[in-house]
Amino acid sequence: MSSTTVITNIATLVTNDPSSGDGSPLGLVRDAAVVIVGDRIAWTGESSKAPATDNRVDARGRTVLPGFVDSHSHLVFAGDRTEEFNARMSGRGYTAGGIRTTVAATRAATDEELEANLTRHLAEALRQGTTTFETKSGYGLTVADEARALRLAAAHTDEVTYLGAHIVSPDFADDPAGYVALVTGEMLDACAPHARWIDVFCEKGAFDGDQARAILTAGRAKGLHPRIHANQLSYGPGVQLAVELDAASADHCTHLTDADVDALANGDTVATLLPGAEFSTRAAWPDARRLLDAGVTVALSTDCNPGSSFTSSVPFCIALAVRDMGMTPDEAVWSSTAGGAAALRRTDIGRLTPGARADLTLLDAPSHVHLAYRPGVPLVSEVWRRGVRVV
Ligand code: NIG
Ligand code: FE
Repeated sequence: MSSTTVITNIATLVTNDPSSGDGSPLGLVRDAAVVIVGDRIAWTGESSKAPATDNRVDARGRTVLPGFVDSHSHLVFAGDRTEEFNARMSGRGYTAGGIRTTVAATRAATDEELEANLTRHLAEALRQGTTTFETKSGYGLTVADEARALRLAAAHTDEVTYLGAHIVSPDFADDPAGYVALVTGEMLDACAPHARWIDVFCEKGAFDGDQARAILTAGRAKGLHPRIHANQLSYGPGVQLAVELDAASADHCTHLTDADVDALANGDTVATLLPGAEFSTRAAWPDARRLLDAGVTVALSTDCNPGSSFTSSVPFCIALAVRDMGMTPDEAVWSSTAGGAAALRRTDIGRLTPGARADLTLLDAPSHVHLAYRPGVPLVSEVWRRGVRVV
């Protein structure tokens, strides 16, 4: 029989169910309890009404929220780009050219080195409350290196993305069309069995709109669903292409025209904002307020990678989004939980409702607002995944 646990004495419970609690999008319940049966949520409500069970956990006035869903990271890599960061912080601008540095280091690494790096960053993310993460290839750019990255990632998550189209491989510097043929041919065949998603970096210096459409369409024919790195460094076709192809997410969305915002508002594509990238490249922030006011679904994720955003901390991204991107604390918490789940087209995570996965984070704080109010403070004090305490 599945074990039953009740967590009581929760000062603030974030359910993300607007029909619960205070009726807000976060569905806040004060002085709350959660009942977990096996790996699922069985009941949420006021502490005084909680059913009695043998296993009782006293939250001692802490906050409980769904585990963070980090729907965008690049964790299969080797090497370090401290020098590039230092140069940027001395005034040099960010270009995607640094990706080549990581490609060389990743190709040279053993499976064990890549695995150790991946495990270390996942443990780091888990300690900060992330219970689901997406991650990608994109630092191999050969058939064998891309397939290896996806195989390693798939041992840790179901949310694996094939990003052979991160940049044109340096081996094809004079033949970008040849590289697109490889990405949509032999490389796709080797990678598709290990992945759920296909992604393209649609940007000047990476892949243009026509190349991106060809790559994503080829991926779709092999059963992969699209998502796009879109409009990060400049205006471009990525966001509208994402909506046209019903991509689950357009990621970055830093440079948007009114037509881009309209397209997102009228489609089912989530806009995933990645403020760690703007922070670490000293770039202008994406305008979350503009998207939210237009009715776009917004997710907030880390983009953890060694070049443009070397943070695995969702709480840090929440603080940035509230301080600099016009989000309220409630919106930022929703976007990093339910929003991340929407960007992965998942309904079993990112919420604490009966039947959902019992993935939750306890904060040493009276409410979720403290995530933005107390930036940089390690508030995450317990993490539960599938009904088991893991931190
Ligand atoms: O999401 N935009 C492209 N890819 C990464 C950057 C990767 C890198 O600089 O290594 C991003 O920011
Ligand atoms: Fe990225």
